[in-house]
Amino acid sequence: MIYRVVINCNTYVPIQSCRENLHGTISSLMPSSHQTHNSFTSSVDKEHAMLAPFTAGWQTAISPPLIIERSEGCYIYDANGNKYLDALARLLSTALGGSEPRLVKAPTEQLNKLPFYHSFYNHTTRPSLDLANELISIFTARQMGKVFFTCSGSEANDSQVKLVWYYNNALGRPKKKKIIARSQSYHGTTYISASLSGLPTLHQDFDLPGNFVLHTDCPHYWRFHLPGETEEEFATRLANNLENLILKEGPDMIAAFIAEPVIGAGGVILPPKTYFEKIQEVVKKHDILFIVDEALSSAYAPIGAILVSREISDVIYSHSNKLGTFAHGFTYSGHPVSCAVALEALKIYRERDIPGHVSHVAQRFQEGIKAFAAESPIIWETRGVGLLIATEFTDNKSPYDLFPFEWGIGETFGAECKKRGMVVKVLGNLIAMSPPLIITLEEIDKLVSIYGEALKVTEARVAECKAKKK
Ligand SMILES: Cc1ncc(COP(=O)(O)O)c(C=O)c1O
Repeated sequence: MIYRVVINCNTYVPIQSCRENLHGTISSLMPSSHQTHNSFTSSVDKEHAMLAPFTAGWQTAISPPLIIERSEGCYIYDANGNKYLDALARLLSTALGGSEPRLVKAPTEQLNKLPFYHSFYNHTTRPSLDLANELISIFTARQMGKVFFTCSGSEANDSQVKLVWYYNNALGRPKKKKIIARSQSYHGTTYISASLSGLPTLHQDFDLPGNFVLHTDCPHYWRFHLPGETEEEFATRLANNLENLILKEGPDMIAAFIAEPVIGAGGVILPPKTYFEKIQEVVKKHDILFIVDEALSSAYAPIGAILVSREISDVIYSHSNKLGTFAHGFTYSGHPVSCAVALEALKIYRERDIPGHVSHVAQRFQEGIKAFAAESPIIWETRGVGLLIATEFTDNKSPYDLFPFEWGIGETFGAECKKRGMVVKVLGNLIAMSPPLIITLEEIDKLVSIYGEALKVTEARVAECKAKKK
């Protein structure tokens, strides 16, 4: 099990304006080897039957999908046996890499013993109870009361909001229902979680967000600070804006505030100094619950979990006594196989001191990638923490001089990495990386070197596009 911050949606792409140009431009800049990922994917695969998540029609028109067949540590292999360093840890979900035998053994044993049993009607399974106890005991920031299991981060956030509504109804506060989320945040794609997310592409033409959500400022200091404003002053201004929003709407209307500790899909945005202290003060003052959203994953099987404080779980239980039941849950909540993997992953984290390993290698990763920013004319900002990092490509080292999307700058970088055997996340003109937490120093050196080579080609592409424009 890991805490992960996932970058998995396209943030900076002005979809409407560039749609027509995408196919031609991106197709032309892709080396032919990337237009068809491998010989086993044919026109049949190109017209496959899957409506693929976060994939545009033009992408499937350019090439068949990259079909990954096998993984080993930090590497993945496609159907042709091509090897890629997975600098994105399979959407930040395989902290322990792709071939950890203990994470195969634990679920196999569980599958042989009891492949599935539900947790409805006061029935459950041993791995679900053990994992719930384990989560309560390792979460030390605050003593929590109960754990509710889901199968994904989106379901977890939908459930959070439903629990908050149920809780406020139980307390006789039927108007206190709105949730404040932040622009640029990512909380998932179901109706409620996509509404909470602050990314326009998740709302556009899905009739979202629902009217129970209000969005407040994105805490990206470098993009949004005023001239001369320090990080602390920026944080104060954002906390004041939040308070003004609450007062405008009425504190008796606002139920909760939700935030990712580090915005992931919105482009790896770290909070400015003193931000969360100031925000917490405001929400506490107006009796508004604080929801922290970090996706929770056991890597090899789907799982999500919500930890609620004792005050809230007591109210929920006593209200369920009045209503006859707590009528919320998923067939696979607390799936014993997922819980068995999660328990084993937690054990491995402890035994191998994975946090210690990350502290040991993260500096080489951060410094290695950040070193390119000073020299490169196309990098505006490289930002990150631990093994999570994003690079934003803009012109003139300014957040406002964006490269035209049809130049395909992020795509060029991604394609050049792939050509050299590395997979990164491309989000328009931003690229993100977050390798498995087990990555070695040698693998980091390789990652940094591929990044440098891909950057050089991308710089040349920018120069070429600029020359053509003149
Ligand atoms: C912070 C955060 N919340 C929610 C989600 C949604 O999780 P899922 O894709 O499992 O629904 C993610 C996903 O990546 C996430 O990073």
